[in-house]
Amino acid sequence: MSTRIIRFGVIGCGLMGKEFASAAARWLHLERVEFEPRIVAVCDANMEATNWFKKQVPSVERTYTDYRDLLADPEVEAVYCAVPHNLHAQIYSDIIAAGKHLLGEKPFGVDMEANTRISAALAAHPEVIVRCSSEFPFFPGAQSLIKLVEEGKFGRIIEVEAGFWHSSDLDPTKPINWKRRIATNGEYGCMGDLGMHVLHLPMRFGWKPNSVRALLSKIVSERPDGKGGMAPCETWDNAILACDVATADGGFPMVLSTKRIAPGHANSWFVRIQGTELSAEFSTKNPKQIAILPYSPGKQQAWHVADVPYKSAYGTITGGIFEFGFSDSILQMWAAFCDELVNGRDGMQQPFYCATPEEAQGSHRVFTAALASERTGQTIALDWRD
Ligand SMILES: NC(=O)c1ccc[n+]([C@@H]2O[C@H](COP(=O)([O-])OP(=O)(O)OC[C@H]3O[C@@H](n4cnc5c(N)ncnc54)[C@H](O)[C@@H]3O)[C@@H](O)[C@H]2O)c1
Repeated sequence: MSTRIIRFGVIGCGLMGKEFASAAARWLHLERVEFEPRIVAVCDANMEATNWFKKQVPSVERTYTDYRDLLADPEVEAVYCAVPHNLHAQIYSDIIAAGKHLLGEKPFGVDMEANTRISAALAAHPEVIVRCSSEFPFFPGAQSLIKLVEEGKFGRIIEVEAGFWHSSDLDPTKPINWKRRIATNGEYGCMGDLGMHVLHLPMRFGWKPNSVRALLSKIVSERPDGKGGMAPCETWDNAILACDVATADGGFPMVLSTKRIAPGHANSWFVRIQGTELSAEFSTKNPKQIAILPYSPGKQQAWHVADVPYKSAYGTITGGIFEFGFSDSILQMWAAFCDELVNGRDGMQQPFYCATPEEAQGSHRVFTAALASERTGQTIALDWRD
């Protein structure tokens, strides 16, 4: 089996740029994949950020400070872009226009207008594969839950709850960064930062809200600016969205939450589905566990909590008895992206593909409606026909 090497450029050498480099460096962890990413060029507006790559990633041949130079590099055929949200529209559109495949970080534009620009660029270049980063559905527990939904095991759905919660912002001494400023993170605040992770599965399952009522909160009003003073925090810390999903058998309520200040939670991504025949829950808080409650009329209602084996979408060298973690989910997401790039959707080794631009656009519709709901105090209707 010959391995197809995909030559990548990375734009944005911060936290997430490094996560990709780490995933690419341990590609040997995957079994039976006939494709492999190779990072040949990196770009960061801050030259110092590229030093880590020069030191740690031997395949990197060229570094740039202007992303347009990286896009002009004929060696680069695909790009991972992980830059602040206000830069997504321009940089993603330019990547697509340059004919490079793209895995772009969420939220795929700082607001709806920016997201529409990216969609327009893609419409002009349908030949490139463009996907949005969202790794949590690759946890084996989440994969089990996805299978249950696809097999229609829940009966009539009673209610869905999905969320992504953090807590480090509970500390008022944590210095401000770009995610607390509207100019760089956008008006969506925590929804733009965390919400695509929450909406990936509802969008994939076709659970598009007909209406949204949002409760948004700002909890910490200012933070140290790193220069001895204080700076205002402009963005929403927490968001709770009460959504009404219509389905053929009557619909159900869906509560979506994105919280930067959820005491005790560090990167807790969860989905809870209650149905008349089955209920199920998965949370990265207990990454090995899945809880299910099968039900038939008149019978006992008992939760079964089981350890999920390390059985990932793409096979790995890790034995089934071991634990799966965040960096494993990143590796699996990258395998899915490279698989789709090389083999096309229908030729993928396994069926779960990365979040699509349409799914990201769906999340923008929900966040935009949520902002309108917060402004007006009203429930906002959403129309998904176009
Ligand atoms: N998938 C996930 O789990 C996850 C987690 C965290 C962040 N993210 C997303 O990743 C993206 C980046 O976030 P991060 O936490 O890595 O941020 P970061 O601040 O750690 O890194 C961003 C990098 O972009 C660089 N940059 C800024 N302007 C640039 C430009 N014009 N050209 C090239 N580089 C430029 C910065 O210098 C910085 O090094 C965001 O979209 C964020 O939402 C995703």
